Order: sequence, then structure tokens, then C-alpha cells
Amino acid sequence: MPQIFPKALNPIARVIVLSLPIVAATTGVGLAAFFRSSYATGNGETPPQPVAFSHAHHVGQLGIDCRYCHTSVETSGFANVPATKTCMNCHQQIWQGSDMLEPVRESYRTGKPIEWNRVYNLPHYAYFNHSIHVAKGVGCVSCHGRLDQQNLTVQSSTLLMEWCINCHREPEKHLRPRSEATSMLYSPATLAADGKPVKWKRADLPNFGKLADGKDNPLLGTDRPTDQRELGLLLKEEYKVRDAVTLTNCSMCHR
Ligand code: HEC
Ligand code: HEC
Ligand code: HEC
Ligand code: HEC
Ligand code: HEC
Repeated sequence: MPQIFPKALNPIARVIVLSLPIVAATTGVGLAAFFRSSYATGNGETPPQPVAFSHAHHVGQLGIDCRYCHTSVETSGFANVPATKTCMNCHQQIWQGSDMLEPVRESYRTGKPIEWNRVYNLPHYAYFNHSIHVAKGVGCVSCHGRLDQQNLTVQSSTLLMEWCINCHREPEKHLRPRSEATSMLYSPATLAADGKPVKWKRADLPNFGKLADGKDNPLLGTDRPTDQRELGLLLKEEYKVRDAVTLTNCSMCHR
């Protein structure tokens, strides 16, 4: 394998390097480690893209909400990647002359969609649905990381089954008020502008803050807990998140 190993690598080192995977695999440990390595899961990987689109620019600096581009994330199982028209809403006026945007203009002229490379990809036998996660208060950042800081989009979680299951066992560690779903900066401990705890509002309660009998939810206008565990357990109850046994049932994700 001269293309992989430099010629200078001495023969002894070469034998050791080449035999490592075999030794490790026969012990089993190496194999298990391989399936969890970032090489196998793609965690931390940045696939090349036809246009150097930057979330750091558009989300971090310009403050555009995820849903402006990923319009279906709340309503459908899939989160679409935006059509060229969405880019041209701005780029017909802004940076029209930029070379970096030529593939976008070409796509607009020809009607041929830009061929973005997938960053996050589950095997076909695992069922996933975006809208339910967003509706139950799981923020984009919990699964996709700090996109507001990413120039090229990086796979920021392993997507392994154990990763899904860890959260399904204890979702209260991650639940947030629905209105904060797309926020990259939200923290339960952040206080309102007046320095007091944030109050519960209708948008964050089921049925827009109305109980079954038509009365207002007693939480309305009271202080939201600033501790994640306390807030998470309360949200779990309000959003009717099912128990860990149900959520870790094989048929939940393998249908
Ligand atoms: C101005 C439009 C725009 C905005 C706003 C935007 N995105 Fe994107 N997003 C894109 C484009 C274009 C791609 C495809 C290129 C890429 O992967 O970087 C993409 C890709 C992604 C991907 C990877 C999809 C895959 O291939 O697996 C994720 C995850 C994502 N966006 C999440 C978000 C989140 C979360 C937000 C809000 C914090 C957001 N995006 C805001 C345009 C946008
Ligand atoms: C809401 C307006 C808006 C939308 C929608 C938008 N952009 Fe932008 N984009 C900007 C602005 C403003 C800048 C300049 C940012 C800066 O330099 O600070 C920019 C910069 C860029 C750049 C860098 C250009 C250069 O030469 O440096 C690229 C590439 C780009 N956008 C691609 C896209 C793509 C692809 C889409 C669609 C998925 C998109 N943009 C959607 C406003 C937008
Ligand atoms: C519970 C974890 C989780 C949350 C929360 C989540 N995503 Fe995803 N996202 C995924 C997974 C897993 C995939 C890969 C899905 C597949 O391959 O079928 C994905 C894929 C995507 C894609 C690629 C297109 C697609 O649907 O496969 C985009 C775009 C995206 N997510 C955007 C977002 C945005 C925006 C948010 C917040 C509003 C968000 N995601 C919240 C886990 C999540
Ligand atoms: C950060 C937490 C978190 C992660 C990570 C996560 N989930 Fe979930 N998932 C939830 C919550 C909360 C619900 C809502 C449960 C409920 O409504 O009872 C849910 C619900 C679901 C459902 C039920 C959908 C339905 O229609 O009933 C499926 C399927 C699912 N998740 C699959 C996955 C898969 C596959 C992964 C990994 C790729 C994953 N989830 C990762 C928190 C998470
Ligand atoms: C919360 C979602 C979720 C639940 C619940 C779940 N799985 Fe999975 N499973 C996945 C995802 C996502 C993958 C693909 C990623 C991977 O291989 O780790 C997967 C992969 C697998 C694989 C492929 C081999 C492997 O591990 O790579 C098998 C077998 C499997 N699951 C069996 C099960 C069984 C049996 C149960 C019930 C005890 C179960 N799963 C429950 C999400 C889930």
C-alpha cells in the first residue's frame, strides 16, 4: 500500500500498523470501538458542498430563523433543504456579483436544483420524524449542535441507536419550551429583560394555554423554573411525553 504508507516507514512499524486492526478485531474490542469511532459514524464530518453556504453567516450573524429555509421541519417528518428561490429572495439584490453564488444563479436560471450533499443520514430501517420532536420541545441544537457557529455544516452527533435511546430514556434532560425550539442560545436559566424569571406564555402550553374545560392553565403568567430538571419534568407532563418503556420499545423506531 505505498499510496497510504510513506516509503520511509520502516518495515517493522509497517507490520505493527497493518496487524493492529486484525489483533484488535479478534479481541472484539477493536470491532466495537470501530463501530463507535467517528470514522464509522460520520460524527464530526463535513461533506463537501456545491456552494460554500454558511449557517454561521446566515443564522449567527444575520439572525435568520431555521424555519425560513427549513420550512417543513415543524409540520412534516422531513426537514427540507431550501429551494433555490429561497436563496434568491435575498441574493437577487445582495452579493449579485459574487462568484461564490454563481452555482445558485445557475440553478435559478436553469431550474435545476442545487445538489447539496447530505450531512445527517440514518439507515433506511430506522424511522425518524422531525415534527414530533420539535412539537414536544426538543431543540434543533440538541441534535445538530451550534449551527450558528458552523461555516460548513458538520455532523454533530453520532446518530447511533444508543444516542437516540439515551434521550428517549430521560427526555427531561433536554426538553425546552416549544417557542425556543430553533434558538441556538436558549438556556433555562436566562432571565427576562427585567431580571426576573421568564413567565409561562400561551404559546408554550398545550392547546394555547386552555385546559379541557376551557379554563386557563394555572401555569399561565407564573414563573418558569430556571432549573433544567424541574422544567424538563414539568414540560414532560404538559407535553404528554410518553414513559421510557414506551419510548425505548423497538417498534418505536423499527416499524
Ligand atoms: C438561509 C437559509 C438557511 C437557514 C436560515 C438555515 N439553514 Fe440549515 N441548511 C441550509 C442549506 C442551504 C443547507 C444545505 C447545505 C448544508 O448542509 O450546509 C442546510 C443544511 C442544514 C442541515 C444539514 C442537512 C443534511 O444534509 O443532513 C441541518 C441539520 C440544518 N441545516 C439545520 C439548520 C438549523 C438548526 C437552522 C437554524 C438554527 C438552520 N439550518 C438555518 C439553509 C439554511
Ligand atoms: C434573508 C436574506 C438571505 C437569504 C434568504 C440567503 N442569504 Fe446568503 N447572504 C445574505 C447576506 C446579507 C450575505 C452577506 C453576509 C456577510 O458577508 O456578512 C450573504 C452571503 C452569502 C454567501 C457568501 C457570498 C460571498 O461572496 O462571500 C453565500 C455563498 C450565500 N450567502 C449563499 C446563500 C444560499 C445558498 C442561500 C439559500 C440557501 C442564501 N444565501 C440565502 C443574505 C441571505
Ligand atoms: C431529536 C433529534 C433532532 C432534532 C431535535 C432535530 N433534528 Fe434535524 N435531523 C435529525 C436526524 C436524525 C436527521 C437525519 C434523518 C434521516 O436521515 O432520515 C436530521 C436531518 C435534518 C435535515 C436534513 C433533511 C432531513 O429531513 O433529513 C435538516 C435540514 C434538519 N435535520 C434540520 C433540523 C432543524 C431546522 C431542526 C429544528 C427545528 C431539527 N433538524 C431538529 C435529528 C434531529
Ligand atoms: C434529545 C432527545 C431526543 C433524541 C436525541 C432523539 N429523540 Fe426521538 N423523541 C424524543 C421525544 C421527547 C419524543 C416525543 C415522545 C412522546 O411524544 O411521547 C420523541 C419521539 C420519537 C418518535 C415517536 C414518533 C411518533 O410518531 O410517535 C420516534 C420514532 C423517535 N423519537 C425516533 C428517534 C430516533 C430514531 C432518534 C435518533 C436518530 C431519536 N428519536 C433521537 C426525544 C429525542
Ligand atoms: C429511539 C429509536 C430506537 C429504538 C427505540 C430502537 N432502535 Fe435500533 N436503531 C436505531 C437507529 C437510529 C439505528 C441505526 C444506527 C445504529 O446502527 O446505531 C438502529 C440500529 C439497530 C440495529 C442494527 C445493528 C446496529 O446496532 O448497528 C439493530 C439490530 C437494532 N437497531 C435493533 C433494535 C432492537 C432489538 C430494539 C429494541 C430493544 C431497538 N433497536 C430499539 C434506533 C432505535
